[in-house]
Amino acid sequence: MPVDLERRGAVALLTLNQPKVLNALSPSMIEQIEQHLDEIEGAPAARAVVITGAGERAFCAGADIKNMRTASPIEARAFARLGHDLMDRIEGFARPVVAAVNGFALGGGCELALACDIRMAADSARFGQPEITLGIIPGFGGTQRLARTTSLGFAKDLVLTGRMVDAEVALRAGLVTHVHPREELLAKALELAEGLAGGPAWALAETKRLTNLALSGDHARNLANELDTFALAFATPDQREGMDAFLEKRTPSFADIDDSPNDATGETA
Ligand code: CAA
Repeated sequence: MPVDLERRGAVALLTLNQPKVLNALSPSMIEQIEQHLDEIEGAPAARAVVITGAGERAFCAGADIKNMRTASPIEARAFARLGHDLMDRIEGFARPVVAAVNGFALGGGCELALACDIRMAADSARFGQPEITLGIIPGFGGTQRLARTTSLGFAKDLVLTGRMVDAEVALRAGLVTHVHPREELLAKALELAEGLAGGPAWALAETKRLTNLALSGDHARNLANELDTFALAFATPDQREGMDAFLEKRTPSFADIDDSPNDATGETA
Protein backbone atom coordinates (compact mmCIF):
# COMPACT_ATOMS: atom_id res chain seq x y z
CA MET A 1 0.00 0.00 0.00
CA PRO A 2 1.46 3.43 -0.83
CA VAL A 3 -0.24 4.81 2.29
CA ASP A 4 -1.02 2.66 5.34
CA LEU A 5 -3.87 3.26 7.77
CA GLU A 6 -3.71 1.66 11.21
CA ARG A 7 -5.63 2.21 14.42
CA ARG A 8 -3.57 2.80 17.55
CA GLY A 9 -6.13 3.09 20.33
CA ALA A 10 -8.30 6.10 19.56
CA VAL A 11 -5.77 7.42 17.02
CA ALA A 12 -5.72 6.77 13.27
CA LEU A 13 -2.12 6.50 12.08
CA LEU A 14 -1.51 7.32 8.41
CA THR A 15 1.93 6.33 7.12
CA LEU A 16 3.18 7.42 3.70
CA ASN A 17 4.84 4.23 2.57
CA GLN A 18 7.04 4.74 -0.48
CA PRO A 19 10.41 5.01 1.27
CA LYS A 20 12.41 4.21 -1.90
CA VAL A 21 11.34 7.57 -3.32
CA LEU A 22 11.38 9.27 0.10
CA ASN A 23 7.56 9.08 0.23
CA ALA A 24 7.15 11.47 -2.71
CA LEU A 25 3.48 12.19 -3.35
CA SER A 26 1.96 10.80 -6.53
CA PRO A 27 -1.68 11.33 -7.55
CA SER A 28 -2.51 7.78 -6.43
CA MET A 29 -1.00 8.44 -2.99
CA ILE A 30 -3.05 11.58 -2.63
CA GLU A 31 -6.18 9.69 -3.64
CA GLN A 32 -5.39 6.97 -1.13
CA ILE A 33 -4.96 9.48 1.69
CA GLU A 34 -8.38 10.88 0.74
CA GLN A 35 -9.89 7.38 0.93
CA HIS A 36 -8.32 6.81 4.33
CA LEU A 37 -9.72 10.13 5.54
CA ASP A 38 -13.18 8.97 4.36
CA GLU A 39 -12.72 5.84 6.45
CA ILE A 40 -11.56 7.81 9.51
CA GLU A 41 -14.56 10.13 9.19
CA GLY A 42 -16.84 7.09 9.24
CA ALA A 43 -15.16 5.66 12.36
CA PRO A 44 -16.32 7.49 15.51
CA ALA A 45 -13.72 5.65 17.62
CA ALA A 46 -10.89 7.27 15.63
CA ARG A 47 -10.80 10.66 17.34
CA ALA A 48 -7.41 12.02 16.24
CA VAL A 49 -5.00 11.44 13.37
CA VAL A 50 -1.22 11.18 13.12
CA ILE A 51 0.52 11.43 9.74
CA THR A 52 4.09 10.19 9.35
CA GLY A 53 6.46 8.71 6.78
CA ALA A 54 7.84 5.18 6.48
CA GLY A 55 11.57 4.55 6.46
CA GLU A 56 14.52 6.17 8.11
CA ARG A 57 14.92 9.23 5.91
CA ALA A 58 11.77 11.07 4.94
CA PHE A 59 8.39 12.29 6.03
CA CYS A 60 7.76 13.25 2.41
CA ALA A 61 10.21 14.68 -0.15
CA GLY A 62 7.43 16.50 -2.00
CA ALA A 63 5.39 15.93 -5.09
CA ASP A 64 6.64 13.11 -7.30
CA ILE A 65 9.00 14.82 -9.75
CA LYS A 66 9.10 11.84 -12.13
CA ASN A 67 5.36 11.97 -12.40
CA MET A 68 5.29 15.76 -12.96
CA ARG A 69 8.22 16.14 -15.34
CA THR A 70 6.28 15.92 -18.61
CA ALA A 71 3.03 17.45 -17.34
CA SER A 72 1.28 20.06 -19.45
CA PRO A 73 0.01 23.19 -17.67
CA ILE A 74 -3.47 21.65 -17.63
CA GLU A 75 -2.17 18.41 -16.13
CA ALA A 76 -0.05 20.34 -13.62
CA ARG A 77 -3.13 22.29 -12.59
CA ALA A 78 -5.15 19.11 -12.12
CA PHE A 79 -2.36 17.66 -9.94
CA ALA A 80 -2.11 20.85 -7.88
CA ARG A 81 -5.90 20.74 -7.50
CA LEU A 82 -5.65 17.25 -6.00
CA GLY A 83 -2.97 18.52 -3.60
CA HIS A 84 -4.92 21.64 -2.67
CA ASP A 85 -8.10 19.66 -2.02
CA LEU A 86 -6.21 17.25 0.23
CA MET A 87 -4.45 20.01 2.20
CA ASP A 88 -7.72 21.95 2.58
CA ARG A 89 -9.43 18.80 3.79
CA ILE A 90 -6.76 18.07 6.40
CA GLU A 91 -6.79 21.70 7.56
CA GLY A 92 -10.58 21.59 7.92
CA PHE A 93 -10.81 17.98 9.15
CA ALA A 94 -13.12 17.85 12.17
CA ARG A 95 -10.57 15.89 14.22
CA PRO A 96 -7.11 17.02 15.29
CA VAL A 97 -4.31 16.02 12.91
CA VAL A 98 -0.69 15.75 14.09
CA ALA A 99 2.27 15.60 11.70
CA ALA A 100 5.13 13.43 12.97
CA VAL A 101 7.89 14.70 10.69
CA ASN A 102 10.46 11.93 10.82
CA GLY A 103 12.88 13.21 8.15
CA PHE A 104 12.81 15.34 5.00
CA ALA A 105 9.65 17.46 4.67
CA LEU A 106 10.21 19.19 1.35
CA GLY A 107 7.91 20.88 -1.13
CA GLY A 108 4.56 19.07 -1.00
CA GLY A 109 5.86 17.26 2.11
CA CYS A 110 6.36 20.53 3.96
CA GLU A 111 2.95 21.64 2.66
CA LEU A 112 1.38 18.43 3.99
CA ALA A 113 2.89 19.10 7.42
CA LEU A 114 1.66 22.71 7.25
CA ALA A 115 -1.91 21.54 6.64
CA CYS A 116 -1.82 19.56 9.91
CA ASP A 117 -2.76 21.17 13.22
CA ILE A 118 0.34 20.32 15.25
CA ARG A 119 3.78 19.61 13.83
CA MET A 120 6.29 17.50 15.75
CA ALA A 121 9.73 16.92 14.27
CA ALA A 122 12.49 14.41 14.74
CA ASP A 123 15.79 16.09 15.57
CA SER A 124 16.99 14.79 12.18
CA ALA A 125 14.11 16.36 10.20
CA ARG A 126 14.77 18.90 7.48
CA PHE A 127 12.28 21.32 6.02
CA GLY A 128 12.18 23.30 2.81
CA GLN A 129 10.27 24.46 -0.23
CA PRO A 130 12.80 23.64 -2.97
CA GLU A 131 10.40 24.11 -5.89
CA ILE A 132 12.28 27.20 -7.05
CA THR A 133 15.32 25.00 -7.73
CA LEU A 134 13.13 22.99 -10.12
CA GLY A 135 11.99 26.11 -11.96
CA ILE A 136 8.49 26.02 -10.46
CA ILE A 137 6.68 27.39 -7.42
CA PRO A 138 5.11 25.64 -4.42
CA GLY A 139 1.86 24.06 -5.60
CA PHE A 140 0.10 22.56 -2.56
CA GLY A 141 -0.45 25.77 -0.60
CA GLY A 142 3.13 26.56 0.45
CA THR A 143 3.11 30.18 -0.68
CA GLN A 144 0.31 30.81 1.83
CA ARG A 145 0.49 28.38 4.75
CA LEU A 146 4.23 28.74 5.42
CA ALA A 147 3.91 32.50 5.91
CA ARG A 148 0.77 32.12 8.00
CA THR A 149 2.40 29.52 10.23
CA THR A 150 5.79 31.23 10.60
CA SER A 151 6.36 34.74 9.30
CA LEU A 152 6.41 36.42 5.92
CA GLY A 153 10.17 36.93 6.21
CA PHE A 154 10.98 33.33 7.07
CA ALA A 155 8.62 32.04 4.37
CA LYS A 156 10.15 34.27 1.70
CA ASP A 157 13.62 33.10 2.68
CA LEU A 158 12.61 29.46 2.24
CA VAL A 159 10.50 29.76 -0.92
CA LEU A 160 12.86 32.13 -2.74
CA THR A 161 16.13 30.37 -1.92
CA GLY A 162 14.81 26.80 -1.81
CA ARG A 163 17.17 26.13 1.09
CA MET A 164 16.56 23.52 3.74
CA VAL A 165 16.49 24.17 7.49
CA ASP A 166 16.92 21.72 10.34
CA ALA A 167 14.49 20.95 13.12
CA GLU A 168 15.97 23.48 15.55
CA VAL A 169 15.58 26.33 13.05
CA ALA A 170 12.05 25.09 12.26
CA LEU A 171 11.29 25.17 15.99
CA ARG A 172 12.57 28.71 16.38
CA ALA A 173 10.56 29.82 13.35
CA GLY A 174 7.36 28.25 14.69
CA LEU A 175 7.19 25.79 11.82
CA VAL A 176 7.12 22.99 14.39
CA THR A 177 6.25 23.18 18.06
CA HIS A 178 7.98 20.00 19.32
CA VAL A 179 11.33 18.35 18.53
CA HIS A 180 12.21 14.85 19.77
CA PRO A 181 14.98 12.35 19.18
CA ARG A 182 14.03 10.46 16.00
CA GLU A 183 13.55 7.14 17.74
CA GLU A 184 11.07 8.70 20.19
CA LEU A 185 9.10 10.79 17.71
CA LEU A 186 6.28 8.42 16.78
CA ALA A 187 5.61 7.42 20.40
CA LYS A 188 5.50 11.10 21.38
CA ALA A 189 3.17 11.95 18.50
CA LEU A 190 0.85 9.06 19.34
CA GLU A 191 0.87 10.09 23.00
CA LEU A 192 -0.05 13.67 22.11
CA ALA A 193 -2.75 12.49 19.68
CA GLU A 194 -4.16 10.06 22.26
CA GLY A 195 -4.50 13.00 24.64
CA LEU A 196 -6.37 14.95 21.97
CA ALA A 197 -8.52 11.90 21.24
CA GLY A 198 -9.63 11.89 24.87
CA GLY A 199 -10.76 15.51 24.62
CA PRO A 200 -14.25 16.88 23.91
CA ALA A 201 -14.70 16.15 20.20
CA TRP A 202 -17.20 18.89 19.39
CA ALA A 203 -15.24 21.57 21.24
CA LEU A 204 -11.98 20.44 19.63
CA ALA A 205 -13.50 20.58 16.15
CA GLU A 206 -15.00 24.02 16.78
CA THR A 207 -11.80 25.35 18.33
CA LYS A 208 -9.89 24.17 15.26
CA ARG A 209 -12.44 25.71 12.89
CA LEU A 210 -12.35 29.07 14.64
CA THR A 211 -8.58 29.14 15.05
CA ASN A 212 -8.22 28.44 11.32
CA LEU A 213 -10.09 31.70 10.72
CA ALA A 214 -7.64 33.72 12.80
CA LEU A 215 -5.46 34.95 9.97
CA SER A 216 -8.19 35.50 7.41
CA GLY A 217 -11.55 37.12 6.98
CA ASP A 218 -13.11 39.76 9.09
CA HIS A 219 -11.72 40.00 12.65
CA ALA A 220 -14.97 41.30 14.15
CA ARG A 221 -16.99 38.58 12.41
CA ASN A 222 -14.55 35.90 13.59
CA LEU A 223 -14.89 37.16 17.17
CA ALA A 224 -18.68 37.14 16.84
CA ASN A 225 -18.43 33.58 15.56
CA GLU A 226 -16.41 32.64 18.65
CA LEU A 227 -19.00 34.25 20.91
CA ASP A 228 -21.84 32.23 19.32
CA THR A 229 -19.85 29.02 19.42
CA PHE A 230 -18.86 29.56 23.06
CA ALA A 231 -22.54 29.82 23.92
CA LEU A 232 -23.34 26.66 21.94
CA ALA A 233 -20.67 24.75 23.88
CA PHE A 234 -22.96 25.12 26.91
CA ALA A 235 -25.56 23.01 25.11
CA THR A 236 -23.20 20.02 24.90
CA PRO A 237 -22.91 17.19 27.42
CA ASP A 238 -19.14 17.68 27.32
CA GLN A 239 -19.38 21.12 28.91
CA ARG A 240 -21.25 19.75 31.92
CA GLU A 241 -18.93 16.74 32.14
CA GLY A 242 -15.76 18.83 31.84
CA MET A 243 -16.83 21.26 34.54
CA ASP A 244 -18.25 18.57 36.85
CA ALA A 245 -15.01 16.61 36.51
CA PHE A 246 -12.97 19.68 37.40
CA LEU A 247 -15.06 20.41 40.49
CA GLU A 248 -15.09 16.74 41.53
CA LYS A 249 -11.30 16.54 40.98
CA ARG A 250 -11.53 13.64 38.52
CA THR A 251 -10.60 13.06 34.88
CA PRO A 252 -13.48 13.94 32.54
CA SER A 253 -15.05 11.27 30.38
CA PHE A 254 -16.19 13.07 27.25
CA ALA A 255 -18.93 11.86 24.92
CA ASP A 256 -18.43 9.54 21.98
CA ILE A 257 -18.21 11.31 18.64
CA ASP A 258 -21.68 10.05 17.72
CA ASP A 259 -22.96 11.67 20.89
CA SER A 260 -21.39 15.04 20.11
CA PRO A 261 -24.09 16.60 17.97
CA ASN A 262 -23.08 19.10 15.33
CA ASP A 263 -25.97 21.27 16.36
CA ALA A 264 -24.89 21.03 19.99
CA THR A 265 -28.35 20.18 21.25
CA GLY A 266 -27.22 17.41 23.56
CA GLU A 267 -28.16 18.94 26.90
CA THR A 268 -28.28 16.25 29.56
CA ALA A 269 -30.16 16.14 32.80
N1 CAA B 1 9.97 12.96 -6.50
C1 CAA B 1 10.35 11.78 -7.03
N2 CAA B 1 11.38 11.05 -6.57
C2 CAA B 1 12.06 11.55 -5.52
C3 CAA B 1 11.74 12.77 -4.91
C4 CAA B 1 10.62 13.48 -5.43
N3 CAA B 1 10.18 14.64 -4.89
N4 CAA B 1 12.60 13.01 -3.91
C5 CAA B 1 13.44 11.96 -3.89
N5 CAA B 1 13.12 11.08 -4.86
C6 CAA B 1 13.79 9.82 -5.18
C7 CAA B 1 15.09 10.05 -5.91
O1 CAA B 1 14.85 10.26 -7.30
C8 CAA B 1 15.81 8.75 -5.62
O2 CAA B 1 15.29 7.76 -6.47
P1 CAA B 1 16.30 6.75 -7.23
O3 CAA B 1 16.92 5.95 -6.11
O4 CAA B 1 15.40 5.95 -8.10
O5 CAA B 1 17.31 7.61 -7.95
C9 CAA B 1 15.37 8.42 -4.19
O6 CAA B 1 14.17 9.15 -3.98
C10 CAA B 1 16.36 8.84 -3.12
O7 CAA B 1 16.66 10.21 -3.32
P2 CAA B 1 18.14 10.76 -3.55
O8 CAA B 1 19.00 9.72 -4.19
O9 CAA B 1 18.02 12.07 -4.24
O10 CAA B 1 18.62 10.94 -2.05
P3 CAA B 1 19.65 12.02 -1.49
O11 CAA B 1 19.95 11.63 -0.10
O12 CAA B 1 20.80 12.19 -2.41
O13 CAA B 1 18.83 13.40 -1.48
C11 CAA B 1 16.93 14.81 -1.11
C12 CAA B 1 17.69 13.54 -0.67
C13 CAA B 1 17.74 16.02 -0.75
C14 CAA B 1 15.62 14.84 -0.34
C15 CAA B 1 16.67 14.75 -2.65
O14 CAA B 1 16.09 13.50 -2.94
C16 CAA B 1 15.78 15.82 -3.16
O15 CAA B 1 16.21 16.97 -3.29
N6 CAA B 1 14.53 15.45 -3.51
C17 CAA B 1 13.63 16.36 -4.19
C18 CAA B 1 13.05 17.35 -3.21
C19 CAA B 1 12.16 18.33 -3.96
O16 CAA B 1 12.61 19.06 -4.84
N7 CAA B 1 10.88 18.38 -3.58
C20 CAA B 1 9.92 19.27 -4.19
C21 CAA B 1 9.17 18.55 -5.26
S1 CAA B 1 8.15 19.63 -6.20
C22 CAA B 1 6.80 19.88 -5.21
O17 CAA B 1 6.66 19.32 -4.15
C23 CAA B 1 5.77 20.82 -5.78
C24 CAA B 1 4.62 21.08 -4.88
O18 CAA B 1 4.63 21.99 -4.09
C25 CAA B 1 3.44 20.32 -4.99
